[in-house]
Order: sequence, then C-alpha cells, then structure tokens
Amino acid sequence: MDQGLPLCTGVPPQRPDPPDEGPETVTQTTTEPDTPRAPALPDAATVTEVRHWTDRLFSFKVERPRSLRFRSGEFVMIGLLGDTGKPLLRAYSIASPAWADELEFYSIKVPDGPLTSRLQHIRPGDQIILRPKPVGTLVHDALLPGKRIWFFATGTGIAPFASLIRDPQTYEDYDEVYLTHTCRDVAELDYGRELVDSLREDPLIGEMVEGKLFYYPTTTREESPCMGRITTRMEDGRLFSDLGVESFGPETDRAMVCGSLAFNTDMKALLEGAGLREGANSEPAEYVVEKAFVG
Ligand SMILES: Cc1cc2nc3c(=O)[nH]c(=O)nc-3n(C[C@H](O)[C@H](O)[C@H](O)COP(=O)(O)OP(=O)(O)OC[C@H]3O[C@@H](n4cnc5c(N)ncnc54)[C@H](O)[C@@H]3O)c2cc1C
Ligand SMILES: NC(=O)c1ccc[n+]([C@@H]2O[C@H](COP(=O)([O-])OP(=O)(O)OC[C@H]3O[C@@H](n4cnc5c(N)ncnc54)[C@H](OP(=O)(O)O)[C@@H]3O)[C@@H](O)[C@H]2O)c1
Repeated sequence: MDQGLPLCTGVPPQRPDPPDEGPETVTQTTTEPDTPRAPALPDAATVTEVRHWTDRLFSFKVERPRSLRFRSGEFVMIGLLGDTGKPLLRAYSIASPAWADELEFYSIKVPDGPLTSRLQHIRPGDQIILRPKPVGTLVHDALLPGKRIWFFATGTGIAPFASLIRDPQTYEDYDEVYLTHTCRDVAELDYGRELVDSLREDPLIGEMVEGKLFYYPTTTREESPCMGRITTRMEDGRLFSDLGVESFGPETDRAMVCGSLAFNTDMKALLEGAGLREGANSEPAEYVVEKAFVG
C-alpha cells in the first residue's frame, strides 16, 4: 500500500509518550450500558460500539436502519434529545462505506459543545437520533473520471474519506488513491492510520487497495516524520516529490477536500491554481469541497 515510498509515507509517526493501553473500546457484547435508557427517540439508532482515541476524539458505531441508503462520503444529521425535549442535531459524515451493516462516525469532543459534551458519554445500548436523509458533495458522482483521486483531510475531516477508502468503487474508478491527513498532534492521526493499516487485511477490498492506496499523514504542532501543513507541502512540491507524482492537473487528477473553512479556502485556491474546477452533484468537475465543521 505505502511500500517503497520515502519519508512521510510508510513510516509510522513516532509518539513520544505512548499510552500504556490502546484506545478504550466498548462494544455491546462486552458491556451493558451503565446509564438508564432514554425514552424512545424519533429515528432512533442503537449504539453498538464506542472507542475513545484521545481526550478530544472518539468514534462510535450504530445499527444501520434497514431502509437507510447512502453514497460513500455523504453526511447525515444525528443527535440526542435536548434539555427542552427537542432534538439537538448536528451534521456528521458517515465514516463507514455504503456497503457496511453498521454506521460508523468519528467525532470531536467540544468541551462546551451543546451536542458533543453529551454525545461523548454514549455507551453501547444507548440510542441516538439519526435522520434518514444523507446528503453531501464528497461523492464520486460529483467528479469527472480521472486517473488519480486525492482525499485531503484535516482533523475530523478524515471521516468522509474513511468511508470512501473502504468503497470498492474508489479503486474501480481510479488507478491511484491518495489520502492526506493533517492534524496538530501525532495521536490525532491514530484513527486514520489504524484504518489504512486494517484495509490490507480486509477480505472485501484488501487486494484492491494493494499498490493503489497511498497514505500521507502530517502533523503541524508535534514532531513526526512528516511535518507541516499539506498546503505548504503542495506549494513547495514536497508532497508530489515524496509520492513520486510528476505532474498534477485537470487531465489526470481529481480531489476531495474536507477540513476547516480556512483549510478548504486555501485548498480551493491551490486546486484552482492547478487548473481544477469545482464540481457538484448536478455538474461534475475535477474537485469537491465540504466543511468538516462550522466556525
Ligand atoms: C457537513 C458537515 C459534516 C460534519 N461532520 C462531522 C464529523 O464527521 N465529525 C465531527 O466531529 N464533526 C462533524 N461536523 C461538525 C458537527 O456538525 C458539530 O459541529 C460537532 O459535532 C460539534 O457539535 P457541538 O454541538 O458539540 O458544538 P458546535 O456548537 O456544533 O460547535 C462548537 C465549536 O466547536 C468547533 N468544532 C465543531 N466541530 C468540530 C470538529 N469536527 N472539529 C474541530 N472543531 C470543531 C467549532 O469551532 C465550533 O464553532 C460536521 C459539520 C458539517 C457542516
Ligand atoms: N487539536 C488540538 O489539540 C486542540 C486542542 C484544544 C482545542 N482545539 C480547538 O479545536 C478547534 C479545531 O482544532 P483542530 O485541530 O481539530 O482543527 P484545525 O484548527 O482546523 O487544525 C487541524 C489541522 O489543520 C491544519 N490547518 C488549519 N488551517 C489550515 C489551513 N488554512 N491550511 C492548511 N492547513 C491548515 C492545522 O495546522 P496548524 O497547526 O498549522 O494550524 C492542523 O494541523 C480549534 O478551535 C482549536 O483551537 C484543538
């Protein structure tokens, strides 16, 4: 997958102070909920697994409603009942691929966030609200055919790409698949790195990703083998020289971008500068963008 590539690729980031244990995972089969069940929710989905990655990041899975159809890369509204009894909903990318039996989400924990200050405490067996209307622009349908697809993520913006790198269509449509993920700290890369590693063993797409999926993690505030903003590494050409990509342009390259507003704005300028045009479901082109969060 990432063999034979120098520097940032193929070298697991070194963590200065590894925790004694891995991230805490709680699944429905091993642990009973220790809080009382909430009253029946509208559009309820039952939590089956929760995994805490850092003090500000966690992932969880819920049972997939039988009727829910979505395209890999789309987002839905999920939430809990608020104090007033009204649903408190937020947009969340579905991190699992369209074929999966369960729906996975990868979430921030905002200390005073109306939703995530509570959502971070969910346990297997709890229920969340899941509105059954997936939407979004980070979908294959919004791009014209190309040779290479680039997924550019910062922070929790990796979530839609966690879906897309598990979708066989990604490997059917493109010869090469590049996932870049930039976070402040090394530990914030763990979710993506573990996912990429696990794909090699995946019975469904393990063979498809071999030699096609290239992972390029970088950090900006903590030392790691590959430091710096991805925008900087694009501008100075190190991204491409590290990966052995000789040219980048609208004839061969397609891109999806998901991060903060500032990140998306800077990426758009770089992609437009390289000659790519922004696409949409209604009018496919060479790149698409979605915010990982508002604010
Ligand atoms: C299209 C779309 C898809 C999204 N997908 C995801 C997802 O897959 N995972 C996810 O964790 N969030 C995602 N979000 C953000 C999510 O909707 C909420 O903002 C987040 O869950 C926090 O909710 P909250 O009510 O606790 O705080 P909010 O009141 O919603 O946010 C408070 C502040 O926290 C910061 N913040 C919010 N979300 C994030 C984040 N993800 N990363 C860093 N800082 C953040 C911002 O500064 C924001 O102003 C998405 C947002 C959009 C628009
Ligand atoms: N991550 C944390 O450890 C942490 C801890 C407490 C609070 N927070 C708060 O949480 C919010 C979100 O933090 P976050 O780290 O998830 O997201 P973020 O601020 O968007 O940063 C995520 C990554 O994207 C990079 N980045 C940001 N803007 C960019 C741009 N215009 N071009 C290229 N790269 C860009 C950052 O690099 P730079 O480092 O160079 O900006 C960082 O590596 C912020 O308000 C932050 O203050 C974060």
